[in-house]
Amino acid sequence: MIHRILIIEDLKDTIDLIKNTLGDEYELYFTTTAAEAFQILKLNKIDLIITDLKLPDSTGVDLLKIVKKQDSNITVIIVTGYGSITSAVNAMKSGAFDYLTKPLDIDELKIVIERAFQQKKLTDEIKDLKFQLSEKYGFDNIIARSPNMLKVFEKVKQVSETNATVLVTGESGTGKELIAKAIHFNSNRKNNSFLAINCGALPENLLESELFGYEKGAFTGATSRKMGKVELANKGTLFLDEIGELSLFTQVKLLRFLEQKEFMRLGGNRVISVDVRLITATNKNLEDEVQAGQFREDFYYRLKVFEIFLPPLRERINDIPLIAVHYLKEFSKQYKKKIECFSKEAIEKLKIYNWPGNIRELKNLIESIVIVIDKPMITPDEISLKFNSGETSEAEFKNWNFEGKTLEEFEKDIITRTYFQNNRNKTKTANILGIGRTTLIRKLKKNNID
Ligand SMILES: Nc1ncnc2c1ncn2[C@@H]1O[C@H](COP(=O)(O)OP(=O)(O)OP(=O)(O)O)[C@@H](O)[C@H]1O
Ligand SMILES: [Mg+2]
Repeated sequence: MIHRILIIEDLKDTIDLIKNTLGDEYELYFTTTAAEAFQILKLNKIDLIITDLKLPDSTGVDLLKIVKKQDSNITVIIVTGYGSITSAVNAMKSGAFDYLTKPLDIDELKIVIERAFQQKKLTDEIKDLKFQLSEKYGFDNIIARSPNMLKVFEKVKQVSETNATVLVTGESGTGKELIAKAIHFNSNRKNNSFLAINCGALPENLLESELFGYEKGAFTGATSRKMGKVELANKGTLFLDEIGELSLFTQVKLLRFLEQKEFMRLGGNRVISVDVRLITATNKNLEDEVQAGQFREDFYYRLKVFEIFLPPLRERINDIPLIAVHYLKEFSKQYKKKIECFSKEAIEKLKIYNWPGNIRELKNLIESIVIVIDKPMITPDEISLKFNSGETSEAEFKNWNFEGKTLEEFEKDIITRTYFQNNRNKTKTANILGIGRTTLIRKLKKNNID
């Protein structure tokens, strides 16, 4: 790339000297006035300006200020004819890259120009890197320092460069979708679509048409042709969430698609081939599903070509404060609150909890705290956790007064309390206790609770 330099100078000797020494290396533009200089700047992409301090219609410093306001990337070098320190300092303060004194030393000028372009290149490179990093989706949004998560990042990087099918596993709320996006946005498919379908949210026939699309008249109500996500994601990535919910029938169809990279729209007879990368996710143990006959073994092996397991939050305890603070900042900003931090004890409380809902639960908790709290520091009292921490200390156990109750009596207690607290709502009570409604009804009867 050849650099363009604009020189604002009226001495013919200086102009000739510059032409002779720099003319081969750079594209040069000459003018004598500020007004003309702005004209040239409007029409050409100038990288560097060398201007006299004293111009017939302005000063070099005034010109510099206007130029910098319009495009801070343009480098300006000022030539002062007076050897005046004040004007040199003034020029530098206004953002000049450097200043030179007359009579112009052409070798010095050459060096200054080279230095300017070197620096420009560095700044551009840094800008580029920053852009790439922020674009590297995921990595900005995924807060993680724990060794087991750094290993996950490593895997994401490795697999992003390939077209391999990826299976992301992990408990609910561990960030499976986030990782799927990170893979896509780090791959060379990043400029094409990332499309997602939640396989658990749609009934079988709808899911099929969502995936493969249909032709006009394929079924009652198919009044026009519709493209499926498989087709729309061409050259991009298709993310199938809750893949464990897929019916055996749809598994067959997807397996065929994976093997042949081809499919037909519902009710169509034309084979369409596409280039789609598939990422799937599940919080189920698919091996168990295979054992139980709910999941095709061949399909399972096809999906888990490359598997990424996301550890539950309780296995990345040191990430808990980082994530908590990250969301505290984010939600404080969103809700315009001035909450600055957690107390040490509050952080401890977060760290010993076992987070069955993982990062999603932590994120939701922080949001609910930010909504109600209005003071700079969050203390343990303000953190109400849904479940008891799994990590009750030995001392706590020893101090606990059992009142000589049997396990059965405890159970009766807990059921009664929860049932009454929820105004005898059976579904709610069953949900809270983590048992089925029928089990609850049986236990209520058995214990004569009403
Ligand atoms: N490491 C992390 N740092 C910051 N936020 C995270 C992290 N992991 C997950 N989250 C956030 O937690 C929420 C849940 O993440 P995500 O939806 O990716 O989980 P999931 O594993 O797909 O859950 P589910 O199995 O319920 O679908 C999202 O809001 C996501 O932004
Ligand atoms: Mg998900």
